[in-house]
Amino acid sequence: MDWESAYKHFNETLTSPLLRTIVISPDYVILSANPPAYATFTESIIGRRCHRLLHLRSSPCPGCPATRLWQNQGQSESTPHASREGDGAPCRHADFIDNKDTQRAMVIIDSQDPSLESLEERLRRSNSFLKNLLHSSVDGVIAADKKGKILLFNDAASEISGYSEEEALTTLDIRDVYPDDGAYKIMENLRCDQYGGPGKLKSYQIDVLRKDGTLIPISLNAAIIYEGGRETATMGFFHDLREANRMKKELEKTQIQLLQSEKMASLGKLAAGVAHQLNNPLGGITLFARLMMEEYDLEEGARKDLNRILKDAERCRDTVKELLEFARQTRHEMRPLDINRAIARTLFLLENQTLFQNIEIIRQLSTDIPDVRGDTQQVNHMFMNIILNAAQAMEGRGTLSVSTRLSDKGDSVVIEIADTGPGIPPDVLPHIFEPFFTTKEEGQGTGIGLSLVYGIVENHDGKIHAVNNTPCGTRFVIELPLSTTEDEETPREK
Ligand SMILES: Nc1ncnc2c1ncn2[C@@H]1O[C@H](COP(=O)(O)OP(=O)(O)OP(=O)(O)O)[C@@H](O)[C@H]1O
Ligand SMILES: [Mg+2]
Repeated sequence: MDWESAYKHFNETLTSPLLRTIVISPDYVILSANPPAYATFTESIIGRRCHRLLHLRSSPCPGCPATRLWQNQGQSESTPHASREGDGAPCRHADFIDNKDTQRAMVIIDSQDPSLESLEERLRRSNSFLKNLLHSSVDGVIAADKKGKILLFNDAASEISGYSEEEALTTLDIRDVYPDDGAYKIMENLRCDQYGGPGKLKSYQIDVLRKDGTLIPISLNAAIIYEGGRETATMGFFHDLREANRMKKELEKTQIQLLQSEKMASLGKLAAGVAHQLNNPLGGITLFARLMMEEYDLEEGARKDLNRILKDAERCRDTVKELLEFARQTRHEMRPLDINRAIARTLFLLENQTLFQNIEIIRQLSTDIPDVRGDTQQVNHMFMNIILNAAQAMEGRGTLSVSTRLSDKGDSVVIEIADTGPGIPPDVLPHIFEPFFTTKEEGQGTGIGLSLVYGIVENHDGKIHAVNNTPCGTRFVIELPLSTTEDEETPREK
């Protein structure tokens, strides 16, 4: 061993946190020791004989590497099978540390100390266990240093972000993981104590910018890692919120449908009761009016009056029939549907209501449009909600225009419902289809009308949007696809 490498070896050994090393004189007196060697013994070790202290022997150990070093005059010595007497571990290796004249030896007590070996092994195992743990976590785990360089990127983080671990560790910066200045915002929140204490951030909702440019909503728990009071890195655990959001939406949708069907079911029951009560006297009125026409030789004036009675009775019967049809609780079924008829039915039921008495209704229904693919009851509810909103917005005074036409592409029907109300303020417009969003006072509206409409349009693979009309009012534009030959197997609405 040349001087330089001997020096390096000496230095490494003396500063090693694992190897116990002592320096002894030729008469085996300990002259110095490194910290791990000091740490092993509670008593003072300097000036003690090494064989006595380490191996509980009265004389030097047989095969001691230092003895052999002195005998060999300078060749470094290792002892593969050193003495195991006493309870100390065998010394493994000896080297001169000065020149041959001073004859001091550095003795490495335990490079292969079984207890150290197992310590190293345990350390290695616990390291790989931790690595495994982080990698198999269902939640994404990312750690980055202060400059933004990614230090850790587990499998779930790869799956959510679309970057492989290798890409993340070599080319990705933490700022690329979040859109806009998301990473700065996270750091800002981490450093203030508002979101879980300083250095901590709990259940923070943000988006991850995937490699393909899409945004994935996540909930993030993050922490700053400190070393000696200084920030050295940040670590984040996050989970994908897509499934939870989908379930939340689904739940809201079901809740709305439930509320609406409860509303419609009670309306249906009421209608059925009224219909039953009205049908019998209506039957009597019609029957007896006809009998009088047939059996009596009546004057022209009386005949005209009876005819009017018959007509009005028929109108009453039609109203009852439409009301029943409107509120009928049937299984949802897609079939070819005449959209003009559905509009006419809703208007027929609404136009005689007090709210509509001062509303002019303009119909521009195209007569040559094919059937759409729809569920009668759902389409009825859709028109009812939009038209009622329009009348409410106009506070019972204004013009309601309803039009239908074939789309430019010819594959759907476009329905436009416009009012001359105050319109929808720009800050309200993005929210009108949200469940339970209402600008109406308590008791006036629950905010489920348009979210139900949105759900119905979605069920029909259609589209809906609202725009503000000039000079005033709102226009709802709905597009519903035409029925296909497949739908024609289901009988058309009667
Ligand atoms: N034609 C319209 N003109 C102006 N604002 C409208 C119009 N239609 C809807 N809106 C706005 O959209 C909001 C949501 O409407 P939606 O029908 O969902 O609920 P609502 O009418 O308030 O309550 P509900 O329908 O449950 O009785 C309304 O509160 C209103 O602010
Ligand atoms: Mg409404």
